[in-house]
Order: sequence, then C-alpha cells, then structure tokens
Amino acid sequence: MVQDVYGDPRDVLRLRDADPPAPGERQVLVRVAATSVNPADVYFVTGVPRLVRLGTGLRRPRRRIPGGDVAGVVEAAGPGVTRLRPGDAVFGRCTGAFAELAVAAEDDLAAKPEAMTFPDAAAVPLAGTTALQAIRDVARVRAGQRVLVVGAGGGIGGFAVQLARHFGAEVTGVCGTGSVQRVRALGADHVIDHTREDFTAGDTRYDVILDNVAARPLPRVRRVLAPAGVLIPNSGRGRLAGLDRIVAARLTGLFTRQRMATFVARDRRDDLVTLAGLVEAGALIPPVGATYPLADAAAALAEVAAGHARGKLVIVP
Ligand SMILES: NC(=O)c1ccc[n+]([C@@H]2O[C@H](COP(=O)([O-])OP(=O)(O)OC[C@H]3O[C@@H](n4cnc5c(N)ncnc54)[C@H](OP(=O)(O)O)[C@@H]3O)[C@@H](O)[C@H]2O)c1
Repeated sequence: MVQDVYGDPRDVLRLRDADPPAPGERQVLVRVAATSVNPADVYFVTGVPRLVRLGTGLRRPRRRIPGGDVAGVVEAAGPGVTRLRPGDAVFGRCTGAFAELAVAAEDDLAAKPEAMTFPDAAAVPLAGTTALQAIRDVARVRAGQRVLVVGAGGGIGGFAVQLARHFGAEVTGVCGTGSVQRVRALGADHVIDHTREDFTAGDTRYDVILDNVAARPLPRVRRVLAPAGVLIPNSGRGRLAGLDRIVAARLTGLFTRQRMATFVARDRRDDLVTLAGLVEAGALIPPVGATYPLADAAAALAEVAAGHARGKLVIVP
C-alpha cells in the first residue's frame, strides 16, 4: 500500500507494485505474514496532527509505505546480522509493513513462538510493549492495587487490562458499549461503559490510571486518583499530539503528591520476548478485533482514525 501525499487513507493509499526494500547493516528482510494498525500509522498517513510531519516529512511523506508492526519470516539478512537466519519466524517493529516484504533491524525483532499465530504476533509490538512499559515500568503496578484503564476496548488498553491483572491488580476498564463484553472477557473486574457513565464521577479512588483517550479534563481524572496515585496520560490524539496534556500533567505534578507519569514507549526486544512468553504461557491473549486483507488497509486505518476501534486491527497481505 503506497502513498505519495498525506491525506485520508481511503484517498491516498493505493495497492501498487513496488521494488522490494534492501536490508542494510544489521537489518533483515521480512516476508510479511501479518501487520497491525496503530494510531501512529494513522498520524503518518494523514500527516495529522501536523506536528508529526517534523519527523515524517514536512510536505510529503518521506516513507511511502506505512506499517510499523510486523510478524513474518526472515527472507534475507543484511551485513552484520548474527542472530537471525532466513526461515526464522519473527515479530516486532519494522518499516513499511503494509507490503509483502519489509525491512527491520535485527534488534527490533524477537522469535515468534510456534504457539502464537502470525496475526496474534502482529498485534503485539507497539501496543503490547507500550502497555507493558506503562503498567510494569512506569506505574510499577503491584498486587492489590486498583488500576483504571481508560480506552480498554482498544489495542493498548486490551493489553493493559490483562497485564495489570497479571501483576495482581483489581482492574476497571472504561470502554464503549460494543466492547464491554470483550473487556470483561479479557479479565477486567469491573467495566464502565463511557456512553452511559462518567468514570470521573464515581466514588472509587484508583492507585493507577492509564488514560489512553484524554476524553475527560485532567482535573476531573485526578479527582478519582488516590492521593499518592499514578496517572499516565497516554493519548497522542489532538492538534498537539497530546503534548498539551503532557505539559499540563507535568506542571500539575509539581504541586501534588499524585504522580503525573508521562512517557514515550521505546522499542525493546526484551519486552517482545516477555510478551511472547506470557502469550505462550496462556497469561496474555493479543486482543485482535478484526482481520483485513492488505487491499482493505485504508478501511482499517479509517476505523482506527474514527477513534472507536475494537481491539487490534490486523492486516494480512
Ligand atoms: N506513550 C506512548 O509512547 C504511546 C505509544 C503508542 C500509542 N500511544 C497513544 O495511545 C493512545 C491509544 O492507542 P491505542 O493503540 O490503544 O488506540 P486504539 O486501539 O485506537 O484504541 C482507542 C480506544 O479508546 C476507546 N475510546 C474512545 N473514546 C473513549 C472514551 N471516551 N472513553 C473510553 N474509551 C474510549 C475506543 O473505542 P470505544 O469508545 O468503542 O471503547 C478505542 O477502543 C493513542 O492516542 C496513541 O497515540 C502512546
């Protein structure tokens, strides 16, 4: 799926033949078995929020093929690759995954366990590692804590609900009506339907709030945060790509015992290995909502862009 200009995915993405990319130093060429959609792919294809163009190309997208999550089989190895060989089944982060072949750094890929399907593996990289880093490293969730996941019906939220439960927390998920059953099935102890109830109006105080949506003002969200609780504002949406909320949270954090914990997820191979181990052990189910053929990638992107995706949307070439 190739784009020459920024715009609505349905207008600018075309299914076209393209030259296969060549793996560089310590990179491999991966035959894509599946990829998945993240809000970041929407930002890169549309060029909105405009701030992202500083990284992706001011007038036109520098990279013409979207897609950063991949599961597939190593086709060829570039110079200096030591760990991977052609034929290895892998998953992780790459560039240009909305294609039959994509290039990835060896260090951004982990072995795909046989027990994990390619579509499940493709759902894990960005959303899974972001959820893991938020719940385990940033919030340091412990047994017995009360954790609130806003946007539990989405990709990061679906992983975060399960991971917080895995670390022994009592988990409440906030999602739309269409995701209530699914979020409960992922293990949430309580589910709040945001179309019927305002989670900031309740009496419960949470030790940790992972806010993937930013639909409610920060002071309202803090109202339901425990006096020494941790709030992670994790939305990249909005004109300023969430930066305004991050700055507001940081400033607020100077004047309160509540910890305002902003963070940017990092690609870490160790985290992929951890997540694969949890999936293999049956402790984590990648929250795949639907699978699309590559030719319908624009529809999957439009669904995520609309802001109410149910689970991870996976694309298979
Ligand atoms: N910090 C970082 O480094 C980092 C890394 C990756 C992504 N992110 C950001 O994290 C955010 C979430 O990403 P994602 O992959 O989970 O997105 P996603 O899969 O599109 O999920 C968003 C979910 O939020 C739900 N939602 C919408 N309005 C809601 C509301 N008022 N209350 C509760 N839920 C609501 C949506 O559906 P329903 O309303 O139907 O439930 C949807 O399921 C994005 O803004 C992304 O940019 C940050």
